Amino acid sequence: MAVRCFRRHRSLGTGLLLVVLMTSLAMLLSCLSGPIHQRHPQEILVPLSCAQHPPAEQESNASQNASGKARACRPKVDIMFLKTHKTASSTVLNILLRFGEKHGLRIALPHGRNDFFYPRAFERWQVEGYRPGLCFNIIGSHMRFNAAEVARLLPPQAAYITILRDPARVFESSFHYYGRLVPLTWTIPGRDKLAEFLRQPRRYYRPGGYNAFFLHNLQLFDLGYDHALGPEDSQVGLAISHIEQRFQLVLLAEHFEESLVLLRDALCWEAEDLQFFRLNMRKEAAVSPLSAEQRERARQWNGADWRLYRHFNASFWARVEAFGHARMRREVQELRQRNRRLADACIEGGFAVEPTRIRDPYMQPWQPVGEHSIMGYNLRQDVDEAQRQLCLRMLTPEIQYLSLLGGDLWITQLWGHIRHLINW
Ligand SMILES: *[C@@H]1O[C@H](CO)[C@@H](O)[C@H](O)[C@H]1NC(C)=O
Ligand SMILES: *[C@@H]1O[C@H](CO)[C@@H](O)[C@H](O)[C@H]1NC(C)=O
Ligand SMILES: *[C@@H]1O[C@H](CO)[C@@H](O)[C@H](O)[C@H]1NC(C)=O
Repeated sequence: MAVRCFRRHRSLGTGLLLVVLMTSLAMLLSCLSGPIHQRHPQEILVPLSCAQHPPAEQESNASQNASGKARACRPKVDIMFLKTHKTASSTVLNILLRFGEKHGLRIALPHGRNDFFYPRAFERWQVEGYRPGLCFNIIGSHMRFNAAEVARLLPPQAAYITILRDPARVFESSFHYYGRLVPLTWTIPGRDKLAEFLRQPRRYYRPGGYNAFFLHNLQLFDLGYDHALGPEDSQVGLAISHIEQRFQLVLLAEHFEESLVLLRDALCWEAEDLQFFRLNMRKEAAVSPLSAEQRERARQWNGADWRLYRHFNASFWARVEAFGHARMRREVQELRQRNRRLADACIEGGFAVEPTRIRDPYMQPWQPVGEHSIMGYNLRQDVDEAQRQLCLRMLTPEIQYLSLLGGDLWITQLWGHIRHLINW
């Protein structure tokens, strides 16, 4: 027991050392490789749209309404998706990447890693192959939002989208996924660190702690705001009105299918563009169900995010109301049927499986440090050739997909190899 405990501490120590080393290395490299002279380039306006022949030219059936007449609406191809953490956002990114590929759009990929040097604020030069004046249609990998820099990368008419989730669930998920990367969790006593933390967060939490934002108002942090704000702070109100002005649509993870229907409506997409399989899901045993009291505490602890969430929950349902409940039910039903049919066609067994049961190493999703809790998929061996490409795209985990699109994620991959070697 003592030996195991010692080993665990040692491997945790080795892990920490590696985290620090890798982070420093990544920062050094990002400084060296970032074209420093481009920090203050002469402003070159982003072209209006970078697609040579935007698919918008073709009439689309996407927007047929009840009377059967097609509304003249053009699919939007310029999209900024702010990928918040632990909110089903990997599934949205997969949808966007497929849409980008389908229309031959220019996707802004991160350079070296699978995020834009999060938690640093986003800057243009973090985009692979960025040159001043170069225009991108889609950006959607993890970043800490920085509106001014994003605006210099995408056409001005780009649609800004993000997704939020009940902060109690985000907190639970983030605690599980990132807990080991937040040193202040290491000294929390007891087996159930999450419960203990929620009992007296102020005792364990230090605002300046390394990676501490993962445990406090993570959604406001991702959106570029201070995560230390209290819920009543006027800065939170200000943040909410900025987000409302900047983002055309705020999705809710708890109502994912309804969100996609609203997305399709806002972007004038085809029904088939919304098809999805849930990616990056945790196995059930790794989810800590929160008691009603713990949920309450988690919402209180993340009070600023809770205010943010309630605000956009209200606007979400107002939008559903305007869209029409009956129409919403119909479209959600249709989407579920599509997904079900595709799951049967693509996925062996029809459902996600635990990581140990994924046969092809290529289909392994990224795992949180010290865990094997994220599920993945096996492609059906007898998959229909005509559907093979679609199935593969829908099932491929994010890091592999970004590489497939030409992203050079060598830092992430190196880190993956090291973790594999030390089995961490
Ligand atoms: C649009 O709808 C018509 C009739 O429903 C169909 O024949 C046509 O193929 C559709 N076009 C597209 C691009 O889906
Ligand atoms: C359906 O489209 C037609 C043609 O654009 C429009 O006049 C009508 O108001 C639309 N109906 C609904 C219910 O949106
Ligand atoms: C979200 O809005 C719906 C509809 O107004 C409401 O029933 C629900 O209680 C709200 N949820 C939260 C967390 O505010």
